[in-house]
Amino acid sequence: MIAREQWGSRLGFILAAAGSAVGLGNIWKFPYMTGQNGGGAFLVIYLALVFTIGISVMLAEFAIGRAAERNPVGAFAKLKGGIWPVVGFAGILCGFIILSFYSVVAGWTIAYIFKMMGGALAGSADDLGGVFGSFIASPVEPILYHALFMALVVAVVLGGVHGGIERACKVLMPLLFVLLIVLIGRAITLPGAGEGIVFFLQPDFSKVTADTFNGALSQAFFSLSIGMGAMITYGSYLNKKENLATSAMWVSGLDSSVAILAGLLILPAVFAFGFDPAAGPGLTFITLPAVFAQMPGGVFFGVLFFVLLAVAALTSAVSLMQPIVSYFADERGWNSKTTTVIFGGVIFLLGIPSSLSLGVWSDVHFIADKGFLDSMDYITSNVLMPLGGILISVFVGWVVADKMKEETHNDEGQSFGLYAPWVFICRFVAPVAIAWILISGL
Ligand code: PHE
Repeated sequence: MIAREQWGSRLGFILAAAGSAVGLGNIWKFPYMTGQNGGGAFLVIYLALVFTIGISVMLAEFAIGRAAERNPVGAFAKLKGGIWPVVGFAGILCGFIILSFYSVVAGWTIAYIFKMMGGALAGSADDLGGVFGSFIASPVEPILYHALFMALVVAVVLGGVHGGIERACKVLMPLLFVLLIVLIGRAITLPGAGEGIVFFLQPDFSKVTADTFNGALSQAFFSLSIGMGAMITYGSYLNKKENLATSAMWVSGLDSSVAILAGLLILPAVFAFGFDPAAGPGLTFITLPAVFAQMPGGVFFGVLFFVLLAVAALTSAVSLMQPIVSYFADERGWNSKTTTVIFGGVIFLLGIPSSLSLGVWSDVHFIADKGFLDSMDYITSNVLMPLGGILISVFVGWVVADKMKEETHNDEGQSFGLYAPWVFICRFVAPVAIAWILISGL
């Protein structure tokens, strides 16, 4: 057997895992979820969930992956067997579904690079709303960009873990961070932006409902890339020396920082231009171009922003694909390259109804009043990932806790200082809290 590929360095691993976590979830979804759920109170609940349950599940996934050095299915099989590999299967299926609609939205970001360059995004904020609405509803154009994006995902995954994924993340993640900060400088100095900052940072707990918790939890799982095995897969390529707890801390910290930066970029602009913060998925694609239109060098910054957003989406999308590829390679002996190309094609096809559901098929409903894209998002973020989170926590807390004690040793070989609280969270807090939030959301 050929030796399993490994990350080149600890930094490489952290940036790749952060590359998975930081994506459309942070920059596109987080600001509009915050807007729909009342602002500051959502932020507080979100961060509380990330740094208790979220970070614990992430560490659990890293530990499972590295202990087994396998894909999600193989990891559960190797560590315990029985019925447990089903959790890995569910995760792989979940990644498959997420990628199909994720790629559609990522395609929009590519389209916006070209629209920005071509001067199509120059009008007033209202015009920009119209541009976005008619673009996503059109039957062909968004699907072509979705195809282009999937082709890029396939290309990076073909490059391999170290040469493709890690190399791309190392350059692009820091660049994204810097650019966000530059853009925030413009957004928060727009006249009227102050109200948005207050909305985002000042919690009003009277607005909190069961939906707020449900939204914050599903957003935490989606944003941290946990509950479906991506982090198990990434952990499986990590060498035995590295400290898993510190890595989980870094990845969760970076991910939350980017979400907060994105909130500070988008929500002040929403208020400055008099939009409704609860307007939903269009927020980023409408308000940001309006910000660019008002800044010197706006086209330049606009193009750069959408390039980086597309890249952030790309580094996340590859982590949705890699579990599938590693499963077929490890367990079925398939050639990774062939698997990548085949699944790239199948996922592209599954994305087509998602794209059409925003236009010609907008009347076709699946779950309640949701169209295809929203239904896929709902099943994965609100059901499969939290359920995966419960099972992963239970597995680590109750089934393989001893093995995990060794796996989480620090660089000097001493046991992880917070091992006991971590196992306590995995045993009781995470399963109970997630189950409670899941049930109250239904
Ligand atoms: N975390 C990614 C984002 O926020 C999405 C993702 C979910 C990636 C699950 C991998 C696994 O955009």
